[in-house]
Order: sequence, then structure tokens, then C-alpha cells
Amino acid sequence: MESFEKANAILAEIINAAPGNADELEQFRIKYLGTKGVLKELFGAMGTLPNERKKEYGQLMNSLKTAAEGKLETLKELYAGSKTKATQMPDLTAPAYTLPLGTRHPLSVIRNKMVEIFSRIGFAVAEGPEIEDDWHNFTALNLPQDHPARDMQDTFFLTEDKNLMLRTHTSSVQIRVMENEKPPMRYVFPGRVFRNETITARAHCTFHQVEGLYIDEDVSFADLKQTMLYFAQEMFGRNVEVRFRPSFFPFTEPSAEIDISCFVCGGKGCPVCKYSGWVEIGGCGMVDPAVMDNCKIDTKKYSGFAFGMGIERITMLKYQINDLRLFFENDVRFLQQFDSAL
Ligand code: DAH
Repeated sequence: MESFEKANAILAEIINAAPGNADELEQFRIKYLGTKGVLKELFGAMGTLPNERKKEYGQLMNSLKTAAEGKLETLKELYAGSKTKATQMPDLTAPAYTLPLGTRHPLSVIRNKMVEIFSRIGFAVAEGPEIEDDWHNFTALNLPQDHPARDMQDTFFLTEDKNLMLRTHTSSVQIRVMENEKPPMRYVFPGRVFRNETITARAHCTFHQVEGLYIDEDVSFADLKQTMLYFAQEMFGRNVEVRFRPSFFPFTEPSAEIDISCFVCGGKGCPVCKYSGWVEIGGCGMVDPAVMDNCKIDTKKYSGFAFGMGIERITMLKYQINDLRLFFENDVRFLQQFDSAL
């Protein structure tokens, strides 16, 4: 029968067809499955057949339709899939996206540098609470009630009886360590401190200090001088000199203020040193025996030195920053300028 032969030929054609891309597949669909397509035409031939062969022809037509639709579905998925895969595929040769990295705060950079310099000569780090009691912040440091030197530091008190306060200096950590450990001890105490001051370019109500403490047998002022010289040269450069000016702190005797020769002008005079050739970096002295007594350390056997430096002060000198308030404004244009690798 002519129709059977034709349908079988078309079946073979469908099975062998190999549309190579989405466009060719669309041609395939139109040709075989379209409203005016080959299958429609073949179905039309059904009416011309004798009744006893109609069932057989119908089955043949079904296999044609299944073959054409099956091929269409499989290839459609393949080509659609490969198309999206191609666009989603990352370009492995493209340069990587750079994520904007943050930078360390200048005060953290200098704090870390200070701790690192002292750690190289055996100072370990210890910390204490920011809320202190009268004993650790004042009394044990040889600043008894009503001592006029208490006025040197304007205090934020937290209780009516003035027993609790925000610590005004990191010297309080000296007491905590001396109470709890036995000599020899060699520590630096970095931390935040608070004073009831009006905020200006040169003063702030919160700032940071690094305190140092060294207690052992036979510690002398010569050890203190050499330690400060070592620190100053590591921080500001090998040509820097140190100068000790007699001063007063209740917790040290003798006490001194530490100046370094101006690392900007080499001592000739410039705006950084206010034309004096020297800049102050902190206070220091030999730990007063009264303080060691308060912490039950044997003053016949042991002696020691202590020092205190402002981290803001060192940072402002190092980077020549002229306004303290910049540290707390968090303007990224300011913060991004400091090298976290220092
Ligand atoms: N505590 C002092 C202050 O805040 C700084 C200081 C001076 C600390 C002399 C010391 C020292 O350990 O010996 O102004």
C-alpha cells in the first residue's frame, strides 16, 4: 500500500534526522509536527484506507508521532541547556574582582607596634578593667583621698560615694598585676582611659595609653633610661636621642618626663617640636616604695620602674596628625591613609 510505504519512509527519515542546533530543530518541528507538516498530511490519508487496515495504520502513525516528538523534546532540552550553560560559564581568563579591604585604625597600628617593640625585650601584655575602684585607680598608687594630685586627672565617677569610676590611666593595671603576681615581672598594659575633659584638637574624654612595669632585684634608673632609648629608636628611628626632665608623679620616685629629639627636623627646630628640638612622649620613674608596700612586694629585695605613654600622642607624632578628634570621627578618607603593615 502506498500510504504504508510512505509512512515507513518518513519514520526512517525522522529516526535518522539530526538537527544540529536550535534553528535546525525548529525546522524539523515545522516539517514533521507543524500544522501543515508531514504527519498531518499522513494522518489525512487514513480516510482513504480500507477499514481493516485503519488500526494498523493508526499504530504506525503513533510511532511516527512519538519518534518525532521524542527527538524534538530531547534535542530541545539539549540545545536550550547548552545555550544557557554557555552564557553562565565563567570567563576563567577574566581578572578577579578585587574586594575592598578595610585598613587598621591608626591607633591600632601604633598600639600593636608599641606592644611588639616591648615584647622583643621581654615585656608581656596584661589588661585590666575600664571600670575601676578607688583603690586601684588612686589610693594604692599613692594618691590618698583628698590628695591634691587627684585633680591632675578629671574623673568620671560612677557612684555617689566616688568609689567606682572610669579609669583615668592604665597605671591601675600595675596595682592589679603587683597584687596578683610575684617578681620578677615585666609587662606592658595597653588600654583605653577616660577623663572629664572638654573635647578639643589636643584633648579628648577617651584616649589610650600603654603603661609599662618592670619589677626585679636591682632594677635601676639606668635600666629605665636604656629601655626608653630602645623604644624611642625602634619607634622613631635610630638617630633619635632621649632626654629625661625631672617631674612629679605620686606613684614614682624619682619621676621624669621623657622627651625625644625631634625626628622630623633632627633637633634643629620645626613646627612639630614647636621649634624646641624636643617632643614629649610620656612619663616614667622608679616605682615608689609606698606603692610596692600597698601590693605587699618586699621593697628591700625588689625595685622597679614604670612608664606611661599616650597612644594618641605617639600616633600624632609618628604620622604628623594635628587634630586628636580625627581618630574618633571614623572618616574612611582619614582612616585609609595608614599602613597596617608598619
Ligand atoms: N599615669 C600617668 C598619666 O596618666 C602616666 C604615667 C607617668 C605612668 C609616670 C607611669 C609613670 O607609670 O611612671 O598621666
